[in-house]
Amino acid sequence: MKRIIVLNPKGGSGKTTIATNLAANFAVAGHHPALMDLDPQGSSMRWLKKRARDRAAVHGIAGFERSVTVTRSWQLRVPSDCSPLIIDTPAAMDPQSLPEMTRGADAVLVPVMPSDIDIHAAARCITDLLLVAKIKRSDERIGIVANRVRSNTLVSHSLTRFLRSLDIPLIATLRDSQNYVRCAESGVGIYELPRWQVRQDLEAWEELMDWLSHRHAPTNRDSNGLVTHNSV
Ligand SMILES: Nc1ncnc2c1ncn2[C@@H]1O[C@H](COP(=O)(O)OP(=O)(O)OP(=O)(O)O)[C@@H](O)[C@H]1O
Ligand SMILES: [Mg+2]
Repeated sequence: MKRIIVLNPKGGSGKTTIATNLAANFAVAGHHPALMDLDPQGSSMRWLKKRARDRAAVHGIAGFERSVTVTRSWQLRVPSDCSPLIIDTPAAMDPQSLPEMTRGADAVLVPVMPSDIDIHAAARCITDLLLVAKIKRSDERIGIVANRVRSNTLVSHSLTRFLRSLDIPLIATLRDSQNYVRCAESGVGIYELPRWQVRQDLEAWEELMDWLSHRHAPTNRDSNGLVTHNSV
């Protein structure tokens, strides 16, 4: 099973928007995605509740809920026929939780909005991914998604400079668009809105989906200790 985690300790950077849209995209493409919400705000699960039953199915896992009647691993279990697993994480996450959180992840997406405060926060987050979670740059598992960019071509100079200095790829640039607000309100993804309405958004999502399709955790070992590769 492929694992995609969306994280950035900065609140409001677009984690839930990206996680829910990815879930919808994979579902529309015929996969059986699972969407795990680790944020006590429960925004991803709220999105899923709004999703009409006749839409392509997304399996929801409310990972933020604490239950006294079931074990944590039971609560977080992913049905065996589900892939990919998309994980939406909370803001203000403790860097010390990153190693556990990102273990075995095939892709780690960091949404960044092009403002100085957000760029600074993202720089910290990426440094923590490299130094605390010890994800190697050469694994090519970390990707940045610029979010709420006002023009398709004008990602701010400081964002570009920052990315260059860190040597982490910018995978896609999402417009600042009411389309994302509509998606959040009605439990759908960009691909499920009328095509004329999302024409300017599709290219970025295609780039992101394409990048994700080529991500693999370095190696996974199955229960027999054999090295396997994930596939969606
Ligand atoms: N590209 C976009 N264009 C317009 N609105 C957006 C865009 N991305 C996100 N938003 C809106 O910005 C708000 C914050 O986005 P989102 O909830 O995805 O961020 P988050 O990182 O999950 O926040 P939190 O840290 O609180 O969980 C939401 O209301 C969302 O609809
Ligand atoms: Mg969120």
